[in-house]
Amino acid sequence: MKIISSIEELRDQLSGQLRTAFVPTMGNLHEGHLSLMRLARKHGDPVVASIFVNRLQFGPNEDFEKYPRTFQADVEKLEKEGVYVLFAPTEKDMYPEPQEYRVRPPDDLGNTLEGEFRPGFFTGVTTVVLKLLSCVQPRVAVFGKKDYQQLMIVRNMCRQFALPTNIIAAETWRADDGLALSSRNMYLSAAERAEAPALYQSLNFVAEEMRAGHLDTFQLEHKAMDELAKRGWKPDYISIRKRNDLQPPTAGDLAQGTPLVVLAAAKLGTTRLIDNLEI
Ligand code: PAF
Repeated sequence: MKIISSIEELRDQLSGQLRTAFVPTMGNLHEGHLSLMRLARKHGDPVVASIFVNRLQFGPNEDFEKYPRTFQADVEKLEKEGVYVLFAPTEKDMYPEPQEYRVRPPDDLGNTLEGEFRPGFFTGVTTVVLKLLSCVQPRVAVFGKKDYQQLMIVRNMCRQFALPTNIIAAETWRADDGLALSSRNMYLSAAERAEAPALYQSLNFVAEEMRAGHLDTFQLEHKAMDELAKRGWKPDYISIRKRNDLQPPTAGDLAQGTPLVVLAAAKLGTTRLIDNLEI
C-alpha cells in the first residue's frame, strides 16, 4: 500500500484510473470501516482510503484534540484489506491556506437532527468531502448508514453538483449486543459499554411499534427518550423521519406507508452516541 500525503503526488499516482473506489475516514479504524473497504472493492478498483481528522467539522467544545489517532494500527488494517493507496494528508496538505470557500448544505437538511446539536458540522463535512473527492476523483465512494444524515447530505451534494462519483451506502456494522461500531465507543467505561446497546434497543422499540401500526410518532419518540433518560442517558433526539429527505412524516405519509427511518443521538456519561434504524 502506498501512503501519500501530498495532493500532487496522489493525482500522479491515480492518473488514468477510471474505476477508483474511495472510502474517506478519520482513522481509528474498526471492523465497520473495514466493511466499507470490502464493499468498495466490489464496486471498483483500485481501492483508495483516506485518513484525515477534519478540524472544520468539530465544534469549539468538541473532541478534535482528543479524537483517537491510531495511524500505525490503521495502516496495518488497511494493508490487510488490500487497499492500494492511503491518502493521509497533514492539515497543511489539505488546508495550505485558510479554507474560506465552504459548501453549506440546505438548512432543512443541514440544520436538523445532528445539525441542530452540532452547528456547522455538516458544512465542515461537505467541504472536506468535496475536496477529498476532487483530490481522489473516484467513480464511487462508500459511506456508512451509521451516519445516515451525512450519507444523505453527501449524496445530495454529489447530485446537485453533478459530480462524477456515485455514493454507495454501507450497512451499519454492529457488535453482537447491537451497539453500532464507532470510534467514540472507546470513550465508554466498562459500565457504560454494557449500557450502550440500550440506544439500539430504543430504536427497535420505536420501529416495532410503528410496524405494529402505532403511528403516534410524537408519543413514541417521547416514550423512547423518557426510557433512556430513566436509565441515566441524556437524549438529544429520537426522531422518526422520512428516509428520502429526513423531514418529519405528515399524516398522509404515515397513511401511505412512506419509507421511514428513526434516528437517535444521546449522551451516556460524557460520550455522545448516534444510531438509526430504517423502519
Ligand atoms: O464519517 C467520517 O468519518 C467523516 O465525517 C468523513 C466523511 C471522513 C469526513 O471527514
